[in-house]
Parts: sequence; C-alpha cells; structure tokens
Amino acid sequence: MNTLIDLPEEYRLGQDDIDLQHAVLYSLINMVESGLETNDQSNFEMILGSFVSYTYLHFRHEEGRMNQDSYSDYEMHLREHANFEDRAKHYSNALKEDQSESAKKQVLTDMHHFLLDWLGNHINRIDRELFSKEAQYL
Ligand SMILES: [Fe+2]
Repeated sequence: MNTLIDLPEEYRLGQDDIDLQHAVLYSLINMVESGLETNDQSNFEMILGSFVSYTYLHFRHEEGRMNQDSYSDYEMHLREHANFEDRAKHYSNALKEDQSESAKKQVLTDMHHFLLDWLGNHINRIDRELFSKEAQYL
C-alpha cells in the first residue's frame, strides 16, 4: 500500500496543507488501481466514501484559501469543484441503484479515469495556477 508521502514531485504545489490533501487523492487513485488489478472489491465502500469525503473537506479548505479579490478565475474554480462533487454523488447514486459486482467494477473504472484526469488537468493546471501568484491566495 502506498502512503501519503508518495505524492510525486510533479504534482506538488509547494503548499504543505494542499499537497497533503492532494496526497489523499493520489492514495485514492492507488487504491482504485489495486482494486481493479486484483478484482478485489472488499474495500469498495471505503474507497467511494473517501472519494466523497475528500471532495467535501478538501474543496472547502482550498476555497477558503482563494483570495476572491485578486483571483480572477475564482468563479471558474468553484464551478470545477462543484462538477467534481456532482460526479462523486453520481457514483454513490449509481451504486444505490445497482450493487452488482459488474456495477462496482464499472464505477471503479470510471473513477479511475476521472481521478487521473483530475490529477493532470485540475491539480496540475488550475490549482497550480492559483498557487503560482501570492496575491491569488490567502
Ligand atoms: Fe482546486
């Protein structure tokens, strides 16, 4: 099992609180990958629960650090977070409707794609831009 300190250098933004929380996301990706590789779905509920909890805690924290007065992409960034949270709810709802092994595997596969895309596109582009200029964050 990978640990929190395994967040690769390329995804670190130089903000300890944010990097630690992003490491949680990265660990989640590793858990999803192990679940897919071993076809072991015993941790499925925990992974999905972590996904939902992560979105809530991390986004509220990160949004609290955005300086609305000088960060011109503030609204766009909030919308991106809201889209992520909608996706997390979508996965939870999909599983309430269908608890089969195949449905779980499909959700794990979708989550894997979504999280990898988020890592590259959101963290490495939008979050990095936010924390690149001191005036944009608190
Ligand atoms: Fe963000």
